[in-house]
Amino acid sequence: MLTLTDLLHKTTIDPREAELLLAFVLKKDRPYVIAHAKDKVGSKVAKTFLSLVQRRKKHEPIAYLTGEQPFFGRDFLVNRHTLIPRPETEMLIGLVKQSAKGRSVIVDVGTGSGCIAVTLALECPNARVVASDVSSAALKVAKQNAKQLGADVEFVKDNLLGKKLKSELNSKLDVVFVANLPYLPSSDKKTMMPDVAKYEPSKALFAGRDGSTLVIKLLQQIRMLNVQCSMFFEVDPRQTEKLAALAHQLFPNHKVSIKQDLCGRERFLIIT
Ligand SMILES: C[S@@+](CC[C@H](N)C(=O)[O-])C[C@H]1O[C@@H](n2cnc3c(N)ncnc32)[C@H](O)[C@@H]1O
Repeated sequence: MLTLTDLLHKTTIDPREAELLLAFVLKKDRPYVIAHAKDKVGSKVAKTFLSLVQRRKKHEPIAYLTGEQPFFGRDFLVNRHTLIPRPETEMLIGLVKQSAKGRSVIVDVGTGSGCIAVTLALECPNARVVASDVSSAALKVAKQNAKQLGADVEFVKDNLLGKKLKSELNSKLDVVFVANLPYLPSSDKKTMMPDVAKYEPSKALFAGRDGSTLVIKLLQQIRMLNVQCSMFFEVDPRQTEKLAALAHQLFPNHKVSIKQDLCGRERFLIIT
């Protein structure tokens, strides 16, 4: 019989990732694997672990292998229909929390796994939270996350600010739009890591030739709505200046600001 250490030594993937996968198979956490290095494992565990390692070697992301990813301190279910939540997106939560007042309606456009909407519903319990996505498969995962984490979120299947989502907003309440829409130019596909390019949904990554198509369309749609609102977008740092200039034109009575992510890139466009 092999020990946990023997099994880990059989792999050539990143040691930390191997420990995470072994912890997942054992239904324990990584510290358990480290602390029980000399424990023996059965052949079923060994076989399952080694098959996951094979998939990882073909660049399948760890989050898709384990089916979950942490975001803002909570575990979210993910699958091949949802983007894997990114740590930089967590900054949006803090930015929106500062702005959302008790009576706000928070609208998360392009919710994916629901990480933003579910987190905001839990962090801003007085706000009403609506989340939309064009993908039914992503919405299914987002609904599971809301249920599992006990968040009250209304889900709508719609293409950006279409009829269904608009009908949710015909009140005079303060609306806070938050969106991490696809923002990469389609040409990026050639140069990006295979973990992303081969496995994450194209629908969640790419938006036209320069990546800004969907954000521009949403800004124009919000402009046509007659509601008091503020907006928080995660964008491609290569597009931030251009989008900020457009926001100034479309919303001359709003304050337009840009915030950097933790790596100092101009990642967030804020219109209040
Ligand atoms: C970059 S992912 C972000 C997912 C999630 N908000 C997050 O931060 O992890 C973008 C999401 O927008 C959705 N999407 C793409 N085009 C859309 C559209 N026209 N209308 C609504 N959602 C769209 C995709 O299905 C995907 O779930």
